[in-house]
Amino acid sequence: MQFYYGQQMPLRILDEVEFWKLQEEEHTVVIREALDHLEEEYVDALKKWEQALSETHQKAVSFVESVNRSHYVRKQLHNQVIQLVTYSLDESMKFIELCRQIKTHSSATKDRPIAKTILDHIIRESEYFIGIARTVLYSNNRS
Ligand SMILES: [Fe+2]
Repeated sequence: MQFYYGQQMPLRILDEVEFWKLQEEEHTVVIREALDHLEEEYVDALKKWEQALSETHQKAVSFVESVNRSHYVRKQLHNQVIQLVTYSLDESMKFIELCRQIKTHSSATKDRPIAKTILDHIIRESEYFIGIARTVLYSNNRS
């Protein structure tokens, strides 16, 4: 897969951030609704994550608007986009940590293969986004 976006880089990667952060936001709801008897600490953590991921999603949306308004992407905006991608990547890694914690320690996943399947699916999707973000950051460092 080729993720070097060249001139289109800011918009393409912002699209990815926007799409995947919304996915992760929705996944916090999926986990809460699909896992019966999930401990309160995890329910609370997931609600906070829903909020945090929604904020990152909104940031990407407003960046897309700024990019569309300016005829060319200024250096500063480019740097802000790179910062947002770095932040989003780190956020996804921490979100995966929470999902793994729930998978291993929550009694809501005990003897419930479907709960583990759902969490694995969600973890894989966040990992996919991390792969895209890493590639963008790596090619940015080299250019
Ligand atoms: Fe999904």
